[in-house]
Amino acid sequence: MANYDVIIIGAGPGGYVCAIRCAQLGLKTAVVEGRETLGGTCLNVGCIPSKALLHASHSLHEAQHNFARMGLKGKSPSIDWKQMLTYKDEVIEGNTKGIEFLFKKNKIDWIKGWGSVPAAGQVKVGDDIHTANNIVIASGSEPSTLPGVEVDEKVVVTSTGALALGKIPKRLVVIGAGVIGLELGSVYARLGAQVTVIEFLKEITPGMDKDVQKTLQRSLKKQGLNFIMGAAVQKTEAGKTKAKLTYKLLKDDSEHVIEADTVLVATGRRPFTDGLGLEALGVVMERGQIQVGKDWQTGVKGIYAIGDTIAGPMLAHKAEDEGMAVAEQLAGKHGHVNYSVIPGVIYTAPEVASVGQTEQALKEAGVDFKAGKFQFMGNARAKTNFAAEGFVKILVDRKTDRILGAHIVGPAAGELIHEVCVAMEFGASAEDLALTCHAHPTFSEAVREAALACGDGAIHM
Ligand code: NAI
Repeated sequence: MANYDVIIIGAGPGGYVCAIRCAQLGLKTAVVEGRETLGGTCLNVGCIPSKALLHASHSLHEAQHNFARMGLKGKSPSIDWKQMLTYKDEVIEGNTKGIEFLFKKNKIDWIKGWGSVPAAGQVKVGDDIHTANNIVIASGSEPSTLPGVEVDEKVVVTSTGALALGKIPKRLVVIGAGVIGLELGSVYARLGAQVTVIEFLKEITPGMDKDVQKTLQRSLKKQGLNFIMGAAVQKTEAGKTKAKLTYKLLKDDSEHVIEADTVLVATGRRPFTDGLGLEALGVVMERGQIQVGKDWQTGVKGIYAIGDTIAGPMLAHKAEDEGMAVAEQLAGKHGHVNYSVIPGVIYTAPEVASVGQTEQALKEAGVDFKAGKFQFMGNARAKTNFAAEGFVKILVDRKTDRILGAHIVGPAAGELIHEVCVAMEFGASAEDLALTCHAHPTFSEAVREAALACGDGAIHM
């Protein structure tokens, strides 16, 4: 079979971006993908379809809650669930076909099927063995399950099933107040479901800034999501159309039962590396996670791994950056990823975005820092758009004013955060941001105001 410079296993954001960059840098490249379409979890059953449902349900929310205030009167739109799913599927198709086009444009071979690595330099797909100087594992992740909770993708579902439910459930119970639980919980709450989120910890979105956790939870509660915190799920018992879920409250060990039409299990994801045959070759794995060095190479020469299969946040853009960096290394350049500037976004309303250190992490590390905070209430554009909930908080080194982190809850947070990311990449101070002219009226003025608050004070607060 054909010989390549690089074979990449997996065509998600890590793998397909790596392939495109490899091809751009002159390497003969192939990607092995077993799914019918390219794009991996993100494009097929993750980030992209969930954003379609978030957009549609947010539009409904706007129509129901804000249109009349702006003088837009009429009958509120009703939900055609089948059409909403068609819209979501069209979005998926447009994006996955786009990657197919990019593969053709860049002369990347798509080897269809599931690959394994029988030896360094070899990739087996079906009965064929393809050879390559380098192999990049980008096989992604899959939802992790809980003992006692059996997923059938109909009544008890992971994010995959939750994106294609037969109908909108009347009662949805979400296990896990992480990113997936809150995004999909928001979707169904806006579409009329009674949503209860059961979370093991005392706070939502573990690891995020405490201010963000509190503000987001308050807002989601106002939107009708119900939270049961400090609760360990014991088991689910599912019938054809509903399920019973048993949980224990950690504070008093009391056992409770809740009924739902749909249960969404959103308790994290784990690397999808089964069946690749890596361990037999001597690649070190820990609970499915591939161990790599600073150059993303495993202990076996010529085998690399990126994205959700290795340590770090399971985020499409982190995988993309690693994919590009590995490609550049394979082409003799110097690929690099700055892990301290990887933004995280939760696409709820209000949106949440973070980069760098949290206040809690800085306190624990004994760093002398200062926080500059600005509420969107003081931002004219946000008030105009009925989106003045939330804040921008910038954390800086008290002595040098260098930006160490930023946390945003509010309109377009996922876009605004990148101004801070660029500033951090350049080692900027809050004063650098504060001295930069920002167009008025924009949401981004709130970022400038938070930067001003790190110095002599914000203007509109
Ligand atoms: P997560 O790790 O964000 O949250 C899981 C939550 O489940 C945690 O709060 C955890 O404490 C809780 N939990 C665990 N076991 C539990 C139990 N037995 N009972 C009750 N609660 C329990 O995981 P999630 O939301 O499933 O997301 C998986 C991955 O996908 C994450 O790495 C996330 O970053 C990524 N993702 C990112 C998105 C984005 O960037 N917008 C969107 C969707 C997923």
